[in-house]
Amino acid sequence: MTTPIEAVRQPDPYPYYATLVAERPLAFDEAVGAWVACDAAAVRAVLNATALRVRPPAEPVPAGIVGTPAGDVFGDLVRMTDGEPQHRLKAVVVDALGHVDTARAADLAAVRTREVLAAGGDPPFEELMFGVPARVVAALCGLDQGADAEAARLIGDFVQCIPASATPEQQKAAALAAGRLQELLGPGIERGEDGTGLLADLVRAARHASWSRTAPLLANAVGFLSQTYDATAGLIGNTLVALARGARLPSGLADAEAFVREVVRHDAPIQNTRRFVAEPFRHGDAEIAPGEQVLVVLAAANRDPAANPDPHAFRPGRPDPAVFTFGAAAHRCPGQRLAVTVTVAVVRELLAAGFDPAQLPDEVTYRPLANARIPVL
Ligand code: HEM
Repeated sequence: MTTPIEAVRQPDPYPYYATLVAERPLAFDEAVGAWVACDAAAVRAVLNATALRVRPPAEPVPAGIVGTPAGDVFGDLVRMTDGEPQHRLKAVVVDALGHVDTARAADLAAVRTREVLAAGGDPPFEELMFGVPARVVAALCGLDQGADAEAARLIGDFVQCIPASATPEQQKAAALAAGRLQELLGPGIERGEDGTGLLADLVRAARHASWSRTAPLLANAVGFLSQTYDATAGLIGNTLVALARGARLPSGLADAEAFVREVVRHDAPIQNTRRFVAEPFRHGDAEIAPGEQVLVVLAAANRDPAANPDPHAFRPGRPDPAVFTFGAAAHRCPGQRLAVTVTVAVVRELLAAGFDPAQLPDEVTYRPLANARIPVL
């Protein structure tokens, strides 16, 4: 017997998810201690419901980081808040990320990948999957060589405070990292619209939206790095696994992007997310009371035959696929264009450098994480 949490790191969780979609589309799971939403209809309903929140109403910030820089950042993230302020700040974040120059992002990713590969030997996958995307986003935020690498290291410490299982040591390291990240990114926010890049776009978008508080802008700049980190590592890793299983990356840019977008659906780097029930919620026969939690299995909904015909086939360029990996509704990910751009650039460089995905082991293992599916390569 597996659970939807253990499934994240299994070699092939998809037959199990298919059973859940068919037999338990929204049901309470004793082992997880939460309701589990699996089919497309339940996942859509949960993500669209204002009765469900991204944090437990009684603990908006994890108790262990309250009053630290990590807590200050966490409490201002659009990802971790709900309601009117989130809605307004989210519009600012979406506006800023919408201005990212993807050609520049691809170029930065290609250059950093070549630098990492220049040392020769086996490709250092950890650095390519985690370090390069974080450094690209740091560079888009105006950090130069050196500072971008420091930011990439620090964000690895910061994200440790996000899971409910974080230890006091991880929370302490996250607090230190958040303080230093604020120091690194703060000047770019203060420079405001005179600067260039993502932080200048963030400040400009804030002015257009009549948003005047700068601390949440700085927090969400840190958020750009933290949202990139595990998720893009998973997308690069799962793309390499798809290639190792025999799929070929098309040579044209648009087709390569379509390929990576199908990896997003078929082998989602973020397999699930959580919601906390603040008001009574009903879907079908399920009645869920305040105080309960819902595990939203995005990766299962991607393979619901009611959402995508022949859902288990890996078919880049599917017409109009329903993809849940980037969430939906108020918390929908605004970073997908950037994530796909960076992934394509890193994987293309790796292949151009002569890496043969057939070298990867037939049976890959995955990091022991509860929501991100990241192969250990
Ligand atoms: C493959 C890569 C990525 C995946 C799979 C992914 C997935 C997601 C998901 C599922 C959510 C919503 C979580 C929820 O509703 O509970 C989310 C939110 C978010 N993502 Fe991404 N993401 C990726 C990359 C990025 C990148 C590169 C950025 C920006 C630089 C980004 C920025 C954000 C932000 C700011 C939010 C919060 C939105 C909100 O709560 O309103 N993401 N992402």
